[in-house]
Amino acid sequence: MIEKTSQLKKIFEEKLKNIKSVQDIEQLKVEFLGKKGSLQELMQDLRAVPNEKKKEFGQAINNFKQAIEKSIEEKQKELKKLEWKIKIESTPSYDESLLIQKDFGSLHPITIIQREVESIFESMGFTIENYSEIVDDYHCFEALNIPPYHPARDMQDTYYLSTGQLLKTHTSAAQNYIMRKYGAPLRAIFPGRCFRNESIDACHENTFFQMEGIMIDENISISNLIYFMKTMLSEVFGRPVEVRLRPGFFPFVEPGFELDIKCLICGGEGCPSCKDSGWLELCPCGMIHPKVLEMGGIDTEKYTGFAFGLGLTRLAMMKYGIKDIRTLNSGNLKALSQFV
Ligand code: PHE
Repeated sequence: MIEKTSQLKKIFEEKLKNIKSVQDIEQLKVEFLGKKGSLQELMQDLRAVPNEKKKEFGQAINNFKQAIEKSIEEKQKELKKLEWKIKIESTPSYDESLLIQKDFGSLHPITIIQREVESIFESMGFTIENYSEIVDDYHCFEALNIPPYHPARDMQDTYYLSTGQLLKTHTSAAQNYIMRKYGAPLRAIFPGRCFRNESIDACHENTFFQMEGIMIDENISISNLIYFMKTMLSEVFGRPVEVRLRPGFFPFVEPGFELDIKCLICGGEGCPSCKDSGWLELCPCGMIHPKVLEMGGIDTEKYTGFAFGLGLTRLAMMKYGIKDIRTLNSGNLKALSQFV
């Protein structure tokens, strides 16, 4: 019987080697672990074995079963990864080699996304605000509860100008200005270009776009934040989007979060795009810190609010399957004119 087991083992290993698809592995599973499979056959044989040998043989069958299960599981994972890789690589995003056949201009992908998100928030009662790209230290940091020498300043490598002003590192720099301009209640979004002294690679640029949003009113809570983000993202992607919040630290929100969306490519199963986690990080957010509200002249006894800093560049990359952030600033018309 031991011999039969080791023979079956050899057959199994041989078959496993030739497996090419998830369907094949399912078939192999049935063949060995199914109701009429080889393992059941071995169990039948076990009945005829004399009692004093039953323990030894039983153990051998059990070890065999565990080994099969483990190998099948590993092979399944490996095949799934491979299938995702093929799927992603063959998904059409845009074609750099395509010839431009038209002689009129087209909108930049970030502009398209920005306008789309703006109109969604507008329909939910938010106003759209403009703010300059050159700001002062007070608005970019101090009014956001980041005093001088606070370690949080190291999170953003700032470009300073000889005038002492700086290029805004995030759209949050406009929060104080907007609060002072309108007071509460308030619903506003402010898109803008941000600058950070980052080394550039496929995922990082020193110039990128964000869209800040704030909502201040009586009884505003985290559930309002989740509702608005979910609605907006589902509209942008044209299908229901699942979100989750993880704790995140920013001195101007308390509590602070990182909002993730369920990976739109694999639906949460795990694929190379989401690094097998099933989730993609999209948008830091949180409840506005009372100190920030106070500095903005808002009555903290009466009002609370949420803020989010949506990465527009990131959103455009996700929506259009752009793998390298540098494409967006490249001026490569062959690539850029294909987004509509
Ligand atoms: N301004 C933050 C950044 O760019 C993001 C953020 C915005 C976080 C709003 C919380 C609330 O890193």
